[in-house]
Amino acid sequence: MSVSLVETVVVALWAMLPAYVPNNAAVVFGGDRPIDGGRTWDESRVLGDGKTWRGTVVGTLAGVVLALFLNAIEPVVSSATGLSVPRFSPIALVTLPLGAMVGDIAASFLKRRTGRSRGAAVPGIDQLDFVLGALSLTALCTTDWFTKTFSLPVLAVVLLLTPLLHVGTNVVAYCAGLKSEPW
Ligand code: CTP
Ligand code: MG
Repeated sequence: MSVSLVETVVVALWAMLPAYVPNNAAVVFGGDRPIDGGRTWDESRVLGDGKTWRGTVVGTLAGVVLALFLNAIEPVVSSATGLSVPRFSPIALVTLPLGAMVGDIAASFLKRRTGRSRGAAVPGIDQLDFVLGALSLTALCTTDWFTKTFSLPVLAVVLLLTPLLHVGTNVVAYCAGLKSEPW
């Protein structure tokens, strides 16, 4: 692989890590009070028991802490590898994890409106809801940082690699007994 391809992949994964972690942290630490408080709309739950306050808050915080950690090690990594990995702006380090959680919640809202019960798989949406949430909230709130970090090649790598990574980690979480479905 050429250096620039390696750099594109590294930048894509680095920039998206704070958006990848929230969903996994929510699986591990989530539970308890559902965000929709058990309310229904058109005879289906608004969001369902799979979207909880604790999962959302802990997931978002996990992403913020990871982004702060990545910022702390960025100088060392950049100089050791010669690759220029991104630094998260104060806004981006919140919008990436928060947007990931909101994207996942929005997908549950749509799943409930289309008659799918909790845990139902919607291939494509399940793998990209949190990416679209993270990218769009970040693009909206910190446009300059977004366009500087997510060049078109980086975006292409993100959209290609994320579904693969997501499927992989969910299979691991399923095998570990953390999730009831492998998606
Ligand atoms: N979770 C949570 N809060 C969130 C997101 C996830 O507590 N905001 C936890 C829940 O325990 C959930 C698990 O992580 O069951 C897996 O997340 P996900 O697959 O997104 O939820 P599902 O249970 O599959 O529900 P849905 O059909 O609404 O996606
Ligand atoms: Mg699910």
